[in-house]
Amino acid sequence: MNDVVGRFVALEGGEGVGKSTQARLLADALKARGFEVVLTREPGGTPGAEAVRGLLLDPPAPGWHAAAEALLFAAARADHVERAIRPALARGAWVICDRFLDSSRAYQGGAGGMLDADLLQLHRIGSGGLLPDVTLLLELPAILAEQRLARRDGGASDAIGGRGASYHGRVALTFADLADAEPDRFCRIDAGGAESEVHRRILQTLGLASEC
Ligand code: TMP
Repeated sequence: MNDVVGRFVALEGGEGVGKSTQARLLADALKARGFEVVLTREPGGTPGAEAVRGLLLDPPAPGWHAAAEALLFAAARADHVERAIRPALARGAWVICDRFLDSSRAYQGGAGGMLDADLLQLHRIGSGGLLPDVTLLLELPAILAEQRLARRDGGASDAIGGRGASYHGRVALTFADLADAEPDRFCRIDAGGAESEVHRRILQTLGLASEC
């Protein structure tokens, strides 16, 4: 995209791996270095996309079927890209995004049964196919992620987070396959250990560690 001049970083991974914390720490570190940073999330990031988030995570009964769910995620993303991400990148800001397209490919695709080609086609239609410059995949063994989630949410989960171990196992496998397939865009981050340690790994991966 020739109008994109900033740096677009997405954080991806399953539930409870620490994406939101690490996105915030990364945004703070970049701001401390004098960069303009837009810290945002999916689904969400604009008023319209936040409204769709509510429909997705707390759906009216009986919930969405797979294709409708994928379309809603793509619609929220289209609004987010058009109204928040592209303008930020065009003015030279860094965009740190807690989840992006690869979450749809892992959750609605690998775990939910939608074809990856169809999800990419929706993304092309809705968002011009915009991809992050770097996708940080945070990885943690399932048992440790469950413990973190229990500490954070006390067992409460939304409509997608509560889908069960086999669904979330397929999510993790799909993320790993996506990272293997696109090694130039994905960086796999060991999300185990202290927050500060994971943060250090991320800064190192992005070539920012020496400026700490
Ligand atoms: P989170 O913001 O707390 O991670 O919650 C978002 C939930 O939505 C999480 O369970 C992952 C899920 N999700 C998808 O299924 N597809 C997507 O494209 C995105 C962005 C999130």
